[in-house]
Parts: sequence; C-alpha cells; structure tokens
Amino acid sequence: MKKLFVANWKMQKTFDASRAFACTYLENFKLLGQSEHRQIVLCPSFPALSNLNQSFKETNIKVGAQTVSRHNKGAYTGQVSAQSLAEAGCAYCIIGHSETRKYQHESNIDIEHKCKELLKHNVTPIICVGESRKNFEQQQTFEILEEQLALVLQAIADHNHDIEHFVIAYEPLWAIGTGVVPEYTYLEQIFTWLYKECTKHTQTSFSLIYGGSVDATNAQDILNIAHINGLLIGGASLDFDSFSAIINTDY
Ligand code: PGA
Repeated sequence: MKKLFVANWKMQKTFDASRAFACTYLENFKLLGQSEHRQIVLCPSFPALSNLNQSFKETNIKVGAQTVSRHNKGAYTGQVSAQSLAEAGCAYCIIGHSETRKYQHESNIDIEHKCKELLKHNVTPIICVGESRKNFEQQQTFEILEEQLALVLQAIADHNHDIEHFVIAYEPLWAIGTGVVPEYTYLEQIFTWLYKECTKHTQTSFSLIYGGSVDATNAQDILNIAHINGLLIGGASLDFDSFSAIINTDY
C-alpha cells in the first residue's frame, strides 16, 4: 500500500502564500510525486483549493480540504459542501481534527454526517481521532477512540459498495504542535488496535496514519511501526525542505 503524506497547512498559509509555494516547488513536487510508493496530499485553506488543484493537475499530488459542512446544501452561511469540494478538485478532506472539534465544536455526530457527505461525492475522508493528555494519563485512550470511531465506521460500513478508501489519522492531542511524540511501543499498540477495529467493522480498504509533531528526525521510525501507512504533518509541512525530508525518509 502507498504511504500517505498529508500536509495540514491549517490557517498558516494565506491564499498568496499557498499559490507561491505551489509555484516555487512545482517541479520538486512533480519529482516527489513520481514514486509509486507514496501519495502526497496538500491541504490548504478553502480559497486556495481550486488554484492548487490547477497547479498540480499534471502531477500525482492531490489536494485536500481541512473540513466540510455536514449538510448537503442550503441556508448554511459560512459553510462549504462536499459537492463544492469535489467540484474544486479535492480528492481528500480532513474531518474531526482536534482543532475543529475544539474551535468549531465538531461532535462525533457531525463527523459521521460529514463523512457520509464526503463518501457521496467520492472525496476520501481523513478522519482524525485522538485522546487528550488527561485521557491518556487516566488510561482512557481506547475508550475515547472507540467512541470517536463508532458512528463513522458504521457510516462507512453502510456505504461499503460505492467507496474505495478511507483514512484514519491518529493524533493524540498532547502530541500536536508540542514536539512530543508518543513512545513507539505505545503507537504499536494503538495502531494494532485501530487496524483490528477497522477490519472488524468494514470491508472497505483503509490507511492508518499518524500525526503529531512529525519531523524528519522521527518520520522513519514512525513509518516503520506496523500498520502505520502514512503521516499527517502540520508545522513541518509548511517548509518545503522539512516536508520533503520527511517524504524522502527510508521506510
Ligand atoms: P503538527 O500538527 O505536525 O504541527 O504537530 C499536526 C496536525 O495538527 O495535524
């Protein structure tokens, strides 16, 4: 299975900065995208989606959104539908990121609806799950993950016949933007559990990826952990050199 490298630019790059980045590194990205062993996905803010999609049209680089509306259409000022994302050329969409769960009060039910919308429009969902530091310290991780996955896996199972692939990104909240990465033995346990949980509930193919303080010094070790098929990268994806160093690690 291809390793997935997802750049989550959050609200760090403006429209102009995203365009300039794509333009400056277009040839480098073309080369990086040539390997059959990997899939690179760039997730800018909404306004840059269509533009980036145009820039990378002739390459193997895909573009993804950072969230989507749970609704199909209608009077939802400020929201963007899955159909719009598909029309703008999005192949992927992140849902359930801890920052949207926190700042946009996204619930597990919202995430289930968003996932259904994306599946309907053939946009591959990247579903983020992860426990807080408190949950981690109280050893409630599996309980939390089970709760975060239940509805969404059911939604995927119900749509089995017409979707090709989904992605689960495990991002412990205490590792996002902190420079702290969980012990590898801990990640091994988590990903073995996630793998079993996903195969138990659905027959659709999936990738499991890790996110939280990934950089060029830890990417290789993380990618060598069983069942980890890729990385969701925030801070280190903003700079081409650090992002490409992660993508070029041996795994
Ligand atoms: P980080 O962010 O790589 O900066 O820790 C990851 C994320 O929030 O997706």
